[in-house]
Amino acid sequence: MSQLHAADRLASLSPRLEAAGQEHLIRFAERLDPAARARLAEQVESIDLELLLRLTSGRGLAHADAGEPSPPETVDAADPAALDRRREGERLLRHGKVAAFTVAGGQGTRLGWNGPKGTFPATVVTGRPLFRVFAEQILATQDRFGAEVPWYVMTSPANDAETQAFFRDNNRFGLAPGQVCFLVQGTMPSVDLEGRILLEAPDRVALNPDGHGGSLRALRESGAIEEMKARGIEQISYFQVDNPLVRILDPLFLGFHAADERSSGEMSGKMVPKRNAAEKVGVFCRRGGRTGVVEYSDLPKSLAEARDADGRLRFRAGNIAVHLLSVEFVDRLTADPLTSGLPYHRAVKKVPCLDLATGQRIEPSEPNGVKFETFVFDAMPIARKALVMETSRLEEFAPIKNASGEDSPASSRQAQSDRHASWLEARGVRVARDADGHAAARIEIQPRTAMSAGELAGKALPDRIDPGSEVVI
Ligand code: UD1
Repeated sequence: MSQLHAADRLASLSPRLEAAGQEHLIRFAERLDPAARARLAEQVESIDLELLLRLTSGRGLAHADAGEPSPPETVDAADPAALDRRREGERLLRHGKVAAFTVAGGQGTRLGWNGPKGTFPATVVTGRPLFRVFAEQILATQDRFGAEVPWYVMTSPANDAETQAFFRDNNRFGLAPGQVCFLVQGTMPSVDLEGRILLEAPDRVALNPDGHGGSLRALRESGAIEEMKARGIEQISYFQVDNPLVRILDPLFLGFHAADERSSGEMSGKMVPKRNAAEKVGVFCRRGGRTGVVEYSDLPKSLAEARDADGRLRFRAGNIAVHLLSVEFVDRLTADPLTSGLPYHRAVKKVPCLDLATGQRIEPSEPNGVKFETFVFDAMPIARKALVMETSRLEEFAPIKNASGEDSPASSRQAQSDRHASWLEARGVRVARDADGHAAARIEIQPRTAMSAGELAGKALPDRIDPGSEVVI
């Protein structure tokens, strides 16, 4: 591109930027070479200034105060309909109606892992990375039901290349070519506390990933929704990249979601009872006749700590971020780009940027910027009826989020051993336990061997597992 052309492009943006109070974006453009000017022009052209104006003036934002919440109704494996529902879920898997969908666009800053979180070595003995854990569950499900499960993985601009390279280097963990599809999530400009878009460098706008709610739009814009329709996929099994115990393709959940009168088959969520009032999980609530999630940061302490007559937490339905969404629902929700309508959440954060007056780089010590993100669970109240299924923490939830303490690699590995100890004990194996009741050995059971205690039946198992031993089954 010629210098003149790039300069023209920037000049022609000037009136729009001025009208939106964002003319500073091209203030440092004279210092740039033609290629950098062209890059800047392209980025600025792609910003939805109207949307930003709405958000910075307080419209289109999520409201935490949309009426008094109440606890939701839930279903679980003890439900009288469970057997029929499980059969329906198995039917969907046998007929290849389900796709797996991982959101893996996050930056994993809390964990401090230098790479996409899905590459983190998560399992207890063999140190299998999270992506391999999920791939092996998909393969195990295919072994059992005979139909291919396509796997969609959402990355972000910051980790897409590295994520795709990891899959390539590992030969897609044995999945077929064309079975794993990547889509890159969108971004939003970060703004300062006055609503001015921040620059990361003279030729670069400060962008942040648009939240996991952006996954729904990314499914449409990448062509994944059309592809799913062409493949005959009806349901999308959504899960986060951080939980090695996640049951990706759960027939019982699928059946409740797709075939129960308490569900519209559009969007459902799974819960586990909260560990305590302070646990950092969102909670499922009913509000204005709709089921949704209130994020932990938005739940007033008085409600988080409230107890019912049995002494249990009133808002105990902890969101483990496992959802089922119908392809048709996502299609409808994202049909109109203007109203693809998840509300934005506003987070005040430290955003390294240029001083907009001097062009000097700033590493802020105090929060100086605002990031806008959407959350996938905000789609639940849009579904006609959204179902919440209770499951067991021991079986399905041990996320890796922090470097140490709760929800860390160490706590997750202990939880994995505890789950596998309980499966083995259910088959009569004697497993060493410590004084707190945790498995006193490291036990890994691979999905292709068993995905539940029941599936260990007929497998060669040890009689006992001694303290301190390492076992892979
Ligand atoms: C999240 C949920 C919380 C839930 C908990 C369960 C939110 C806001 N809260 O909390 O209700 O109880 O998980 O573990 O999600 N991601 C993207 N792109 C983004 C942002 C995030 O793909 O732009 C992905 C991450 O890779 C990760 C997941 O979304 O897989 C969760 O994001 P994170 O911000 O870590 O949420 P939590 O605070 O863990």
